Amino acid sequence: MRNLYLEDKKYILNTYNRLDLIIERGEGSYLYDSNGEKYLDMYSGISVNNLGHDKEIASRIAMQASKYIHLSNYFVSESTINLAKLLVENTFASKVFFTNSGAEANEAAIKLCRKYGKKLSEEKYQILSAYNSFHGRTCGGLTLTGQDKYQNDFKPLISGVDYFRYNDIESLNEKVSDNTCAVFLEIIQGEGGIVEISQEFIDNLNELSKRHNFLIVIDEIQTGIGRTGDVFAYEKYGFTPHVVTLAKSLGGGIPLGAMLVCKDLEGIFEPGDHGTTFGGNPVACAAGEYVVNEVINTNLCNDVKEKGNYLLSKLQKIKEKYPNIIRELRGRGLMIGIEAGEYAGIIKETALNKKLLLNVTNKTIIRLLPPLNIKMHELDEFIRLFEEILAEI
Ligand SMILES: Cc1ncc(COP(=O)(O)O)c(C=O)c1O
Repeated sequence: MRNLYLEDKKYILNTYNRLDLIIERGEGSYLYDSNGEKYLDMYSGISVNNLGHDKEIASRIAMQASKYIHLSNYFVSESTINLAKLLVENTFASKVFFTNSGAEANEAAIKLCRKYGKKLSEEKYQILSAYNSFHGRTCGGLTLTGQDKYQNDFKPLISGVDYFRYNDIESLNEKVSDNTCAVFLEIIQGEGGIVEISQEFIDNLNELSKRHNFLIVIDEIQTGIGRTGDVFAYEKYGFTPHVVTLAKSLGGGIPLGAMLVCKDLEGIFEPGDHGTTFGGNPVACAAGEYVVNEVINTNLCNDVKEKGNYLLSKLQKIKEKYPNIIRELRGRGLMIGIEAGEYAGIIKETALNKKLLLNVTNKTIIRLLPPLNIKMHELDEFIRLFEEILAEI
């Protein structure tokens, strides 16, 4: 019999730590292995399968694929337009540029911001980003990712980028000048351990942006499209960014990213300034149209808020019972971080034995990103298993 785990090691470059678990199919909030065993999926492909393993997405994909799969960006395409229209009519965005991934959405934003700055002054090219952020692995995205562990082996990266401490107003103030063309920011640092930005920081950023005429780019690649209980995580702060980048759940599991821009930025890119062969692929956008419609035009976001509060209240009780293991709970909606210190690894391993799939980020944080439409009894199943695991260790 084939051993796919070993074959993967043999043929694919060793850049990922794979699980020795062969999945055959997914359904709702569960994955099923080759022995028919059922696993509760509490991280949804790292916030990609936000509607769970959904058969309707598969049928939208099949429907578009049966018409045509790809035409090239010389052609207009109905599903691509439909998705852009949904985003424009329901968000701050005035226009959309489609990419294939989050890193590429941030690359597009870097170029847009640089061109915006250049139109104002030759010196206006500085981009600022936060320490401990994550914005992707391409050279531009990696430069924005303010973490030595990801950057060190690949320097020199792109020039003209500097960093501030997340949530530290003084640190931002020190770095900003009239030469700043953009500040990139995650509303909740996902990879960085589920850490949320403060209202004071956003208010200050907004004021600086007006004073120094730079763009605010909000990376909603992990937080966006309903994950926190709002369409975008920035909404609760009462401000409007100039640019938002999206990916992950946007294509329902098919590679798809987007850069959304406000009205004033519509004219920055001209034909030939930017492009990608697959960006806005009709099949990916057919899936995206379904996903975004579900998030915008159903009660999903309210459900996410309710389920998030329920989950946090249950976890709070567990934290009180096991204060030595669970040190802190962070996040909102269905993006929750459980600070478990040195116990995070063993919790994840024990969970796998109990057919519960957990993700750990930044070594010590259990990052919960369940499907947004997870059922209440499935959340209860998670709570029961999680408590059982803590009792065991
Ligand atoms: C906030 C954020 N930005 C950018 C990225 C990069 O996206 P991709 O892996 O699709 O390039 C990620 C991926 O984890 C992310 O969480």
